[in-house]
Amino acid sequence: VFAHVVQAPEDPILGVTVAYNKDPSPIKLNLGVGAYRTEEGKPLVLNVVRQAEQQLVNDISRVKEYLPIVGLAEFNKLSAKLILGADNPAVQESRVTTVQCLSGTGSLRVGGEFLARHYHERTIYIPQPTWGNHIKVFTWSGLSVKTYRYYDPATRGLNFQGLLEDLGSAPSGAIVLLHACAHNPTGVDPTLEQWEQIRQLVRSRALLPFFDSAYQGFASGSLDSDAQPVRIFAADGGECLVAQSYAKNMGLYGERVGALSIVCKSADVARRVESQLKLVIRPMYSNPPIHGASIVATILRDRDLFNEWTIELKAMADRIISMRKQLFDALKTRGTPGDWSHIIKQIGMFTFTGLNAEQVAFMTKEYHIYMTSDGRISMAGLSSKTVPHLTDAIHAAVTR
Ligand code: LMR
Repeated sequence: VFAHVVQAPEDPILGVTVAYNKDPSPIKLNLGVGAYRTEEGKPLVLNVVRQAEQQLVNDISRVKEYLPIVGLAEFNKLSAKLILGADNPAVQESRVTTVQCLSGTGSLRVGGEFLARHYHERTIYIPQPTWGNHIKVFTWSGLSVKTYRYYDPATRGLNFQGLLEDLGSAPSGAIVLLHACAHNPTGVDPTLEQWEQIRQLVRSRALLPFFDSAYQGFASGSLDSDAQPVRIFAADGGECLVAQSYAKNMGLYGERVGALSIVCKSADVARRVESQLKLVIRPMYSNPPIHGASIVATILRDRDLFNEWTIELKAMADRIISMRKQLFDALKTRGTPGDWSHIIKQIGMFTFTGLNAEQVAFMTKEYHIYMTSDGRISMAGLSSKTVPHLTDAIHAAVTR
């Protein structure tokens, strides 16, 4: 009965790791998925995460009962404060409902399904380009996906005029997906002044902002600065949605821990919204897993662990910045044709190199360097040792 089922293609991002794993070459390098690696090329478990896990193991009163449908209450409260700010009026007035979800993707999906059921406008505008999974997440949530201009290939920077024009002509009430910081895949963010202009436009057109916050702490190295765009929207009295992920900033990738917050007009509306979110979640996965959320809550509630986390996070962000500088310097020294200054201008985990699909395929075939076909490289996967290899590959790709 399944004989007609056709072979599906690999995922454009996670499939890169599948191909990398099959490559026997000793010089292979995975710059595909956005996952942090140490200078030795190894995955990193943060020291604070180890400490929190130790505390959890030592506490024999802990049990493995089901969490409520909306997840761990303390985790939800602390997550809302982390992204929105403890002094945010929306938080103070209890106008925010937060539910624990399966990392960023699960938060986007739950938010998308809630909107498809309860919001009057079904169109969501996403930036062009964006994280590839956004299109599928929102389409399968029952929304209709359109794009707004975001990236200008000529300047390798923001197409701010195009963004304003496209959002300005979006139908009133349309949903707008905004990357909170460290835009994936381009590494190009609006300035705070531009964010304020975007906010005014969004509110004047009655658009509904939906933030994807997957990299809080990775853009500037400061959790508060990176949350600023979200906070100005959440503080202006209007509604917004925020999907949060702890995959990158706490290195909890496989624990699948994240949260969806919906800022509402009143505490009463927030309560009703939460009751409907439960109806979305229950038939999807019933309730979320307990371990990752317990780690996060342990760290966020404890001042010492929290401070230590910010130091470890900053160290990850700084290592990535240093990789940008090293790659840029190496390409300049090598005399590789082109202006590579975008490598040091872009921020977050990724550089949107400008290399095309054919050049990427060449680098994979000849140099065993794995990256997504849009020319995005994960700077977090690079180390001082591998910069020369990547430089050789880029040089060969652009001069052949
Ligand atoms: C990425 O863009 O590489 C990450 O967000 C991982 C993923 O799930 O795609």
